Amino acid sequence: MANPENPFIFGEVIDEPYFVNRTSELRDLVRDLADGQKVFLLSPRRFGKSSLVALALLKLRKKHIRTVSLTVSSYSSYTQFLEKFAEKVLRAAGPWDRVKDWVARFGRNVKPDINYNMTTGEVSVSLGRGAGFDPVPIAPEIFAMPGELTRNAGFRMAICLDEFQQISEFDSGTVESAIRNEVQEQREVGYVFAGSQPSLVREMLSARRPFHKAGPQMFLGKIAAGDWKAYISRQFGQRGRRLEETAMEALLAAADLIPYDVQRIAHELWDYAELKDKRELTNADVQSVIDRLVAAQSTYYELLWEQLTVGQRAALQAVAERGPSDIYAQTVRSEFRLGPASTVQRALRSLDAKDILDRYEDRTFFVDPLFPVWIRAKTA
Ligand SMILES: Nc1ncnc2c1ncn2[C@@H]1O[C@H](COP(=O)(O)OP(=O)(O)O)[C@@H](O)[C@H]1O
Ligand SMILES: [Mg+2]
Repeated sequence: MANPENPFIFGEVIDEPYFVNRTSELRDLVRDLADGQKVFLLSPRRFGKSSLVALALLKLRKKHIRTVSLTVSSYSSYTQFLEKFAEKVLRAAGPWDRVKDWVARFGRNVKPDINYNMTTGEVSVSLGRGAGFDPVPIAPEIFAMPGELTRNAGFRMAICLDEFQQISEFDSGTVESAIRNEVQEQREVGYVFAGSQPSLVREMLSARRPFHKAGPQMFLGKIAAGDWKAYISRQFGQRGRRLEETAMEALLAAADLIPYDVQRIAHELWDYAELKDKRELTNADVQSVIDRLVAAQSTYYELLWEQLTVGQRAALQAVAERGPSDIYAQTVRSEFRLGPASTVQRALRSLDAKDILDRYEDRTFFVDPLFPVWIRAKTA
């Protein structure tokens, strides 16, 4: 019999048979988007926002709601983002025959170049060439498109802007208010703004910023250990394998229950078990898989480490060795030569901005839970 495919998937969106938990979040998101709400979906990186949204959009398509999804951080300029937004909205509202009359009327200030390729069926939008092109005047019209295309069209739309916190990189002054002003008029269109780096997103949603109180906020937490255990045991069980209780605990602890990392370690453990054809997987097996993953990342960790200041390195060592709660304690500060609490605080904040540390439930944690394993091994 051919080996079954590895059921642990990471680094891409997860589809239903492999999707763990999130039942109520999925239900709420589908309902809110179908209702035309503007939802803010927040969590640190790799907690499962994009996967959750992808599944929600799939369910919405089954209800004949047209969907659009863009990852803001994929685009290198405001103009390019607007072009892709327009293209995807037109494609979702299509077929071309039903939007072409509308397209002909589009563009009051700037007339964009909108083309339809008969053979590929693709729509392309070009706003203007050259670095001197200013997209700001046309942006409101672009963001108004979903509303105009759904009005009296007999369908609704749901739009995801993923890695939304990056939007201010394009044009900090106007882009947020341009989007806010347009989307609030669009009753037939649900939006989900998904954001990593909670500190940036919190700022974006604060008073005096355009998105303040624009819609409900949904915080995506970690997936509970019990759900992971059931899922992991079932998958290995179907292959006639079993993880000892300590092995399971070690896996979840090393991953810090971060969905991406649970899947990454479980994926590696699966391959390891296949290779050795082991039926019983022990703590030692999990440790050797973790060591292998850390070793594979070591060039990257080395580079990252070299770019840090000595103060940042000391703070990371302290968090890796002693955990985040005691880092301000006098004993820890003197042991790791961290200096006064204010210096530690500044180091932690800069590491947060560098996306090495983040905060979850009022605790500092490593965005990549294997990085502290590497740090500890270094000084051992
Ligand atoms: N509900 C889930 N069930 C199983 N694995 C998940 C789930 N959500 C996320 N993951 C795992 O985490 C990885 C990262 O998820 P992703 O949706 O890309 O996170 P984010 O968008 O928050 O950065 C996925 O590729 C998958 O391996
Ligand atoms: Mg994502």
